[in-house]
Amino acid sequence: MVDLKYIGHSAFEFTAGDKSILVDPLVSINPKYDYKKSNVVDIFVTHAHADHLGEAVEIAKEKKATITAVPEITNHIAEKKLKTRAINLGCWLNYDWGRAIFLPAYHSSSFADGTYGGVAASILFDIQGVRIFHAGDTCLNSEFKTYKELYRPNIALLPIGGNYTMDVEHAVVAADWLGAKTVIPMHYNTFPEIQADLNKFLQLMQVNNTQCCILNPEEIK
Ligand code: NI
Ligand code: MN
Repeated sequence: MVDLKYIGHSAFEFTAGDKSILVDPLVSINPKYDYKKSNVVDIFVTHAHADHLGEAVEIAKEKKATITAVPEITNHIAEKKLKTRAINLGCWLNYDWGRAIFLPAYHSSSFADGTYGGVAASILFDIQGVRIFHAGDTCLNSEFKTYKELYRPNIALLPIGGNYTMDVEHAVVAADWLGAKTVIPMHYNTFPEIQADLNKFLQLMQVNNTQCCILNPEEIK
């Protein structure tokens, strides 16, 4: 059993047994979420943009959790007492709760100070048999068809806000290409530039025979 929590923006917590995994932990977006209550062991960062790196460093320090990201990110945040795992695209990475693979995302990546952040990624997680695809920030791309064939994702977390990523219409196509039975929209309505029409998204998704879960960060427990 995997428990999935939408913290807000692109931030998620997955819990398997007594261990929690954070992805793109911009936890400051949601005052109702308290990572201190969770046994965070691993933190994944899709790319260096501040809305994805979020509070990764402070959480990792406090929880003694490991940050997994591309070397340009782990090098940039390297300091004493911070556990990092530098990886790159394209292979299964094993953890004691399951495994993950970094895949290409079509997006830029830089730190707030302008430093290059390496390649941007989407991440596919395999946790106790449940495959969760976190798209990160990306446009629609035909690799998604290959991911369906190779990885058969069960749940897809897709950006729908447009401007920086795919929009509602493209996310509907992405859902179809990925073939995930459940889709959770993310990266929308948190900034003025990424407003999305959720009703339109739901309407368009109906033709896909895909279950669309709108998770409201306000209702997080
Ligand atoms: Ni970004
Ligand atoms: Mn972003």
